[in-house]
Amino acid sequence: MKMKVLVCGKGGSGKSTITALLAKEMSRKGYNVLVVDSDESNFGLHRQLGVEMPEDFMNYLGGKKALGQKMMKAFQSGEAASIFEEKWGIPEIPEAYTVANGNIKMMAVGKIHDFGEGCACPMGALAKHLLKNIETTSEDLVLVDTEAGIEHFGRGVEEGCDLVLMVLDPSYESIRLSEKIRQLAEKAGKPLYFILNRADKIGTHFMLETVDKTHVLASVPSDMDVFRAGFAGEELKVELPEIEAVADFLISGDWA
Ligand SMILES: Nc1ncnc2c1ncn2[C@@H]1O[C@H](COP(=O)(O)OP(=O)(O)O)[C@@H](O)[C@H]1O
Ligand SMILES: [Mg+2]
Repeated sequence: MKMKVLVCGKGGSGKSTITALLAKEMSRKGYNVLVVDSDESNFGLHRQLGVEMPEDFMNYLGGKKALGQKMMKAFQSGEAASIFEEKWGIPEIPEAYTVANGNIKMMAVGKIHDFGEGCACPMGALAKHLLKNIETTSEDLVLVDTEAGIEHFGRGVEEGCDLVLMVLDPSYESIRLSEKIRQLAEKAGKPLYFILNRADKIGTHFMLETVDKTHVLASVPSDMDVFRAGFAGEELKVELPEIEAVADFLISGDWA
């Protein structure tokens, strides 16, 4: 089963947390997990995974400026930008750009380090190519933590993935966004499933009335240890049955 999974949702809904919990769970189940951080404003994910921040993969291609220029040239000449052609299995990704904790590897497309560096478009394009070019086996899982909202859909990042997981917190914005994401996932021809996060009984009840129940995989409770680790910037070591249920569903392949 090929599993490249895109995790999306609104800012603060718990994308990075769910990504880290799921990565850990799948690693316990023996999978080789590659976590791709494509959110240029994420500064906590590597800590939740218990690794150092990896070097920006953007630098592999000469940095953001060089990549931006390459894309601009291609755009002006009307040719498709070929950003890079390498086809890598997870072990072949250059070591300089990955950090590992057991059988979990993490890489980051690129971070905005300075104010005024310009837009993040080259990063979106890079994320898309990277995802398409990574070759997985049945023992691998690729998890992509995206930026908030739906911009990544505009950039076609989801093209390279097999499944979209949307994280929803109990809020009006999440519900509204879920409708948009449903349309976009449908257009992209990708299966979409929901994970409710930090919803109590009442919140879960209301959300199940609004989103497609049959596509809700779990309602992950607000957990004190998860919160504490996130707050302190520590590795997430919490095991939650709801996350295990999501992992089992991924492995079952019933979504394909
Ligand atoms: N299930 C949960 N229980 C407790 N705290 C959570 C849970 N999910 C997320 N959080 C906390 O909420 C905050 C936002 O989560 P985060 O994963 O960074 O969101 P996002 O990546 O969507 O912006 C973090 O401080 C995180 O520790
Ligand atoms: Mg995040």
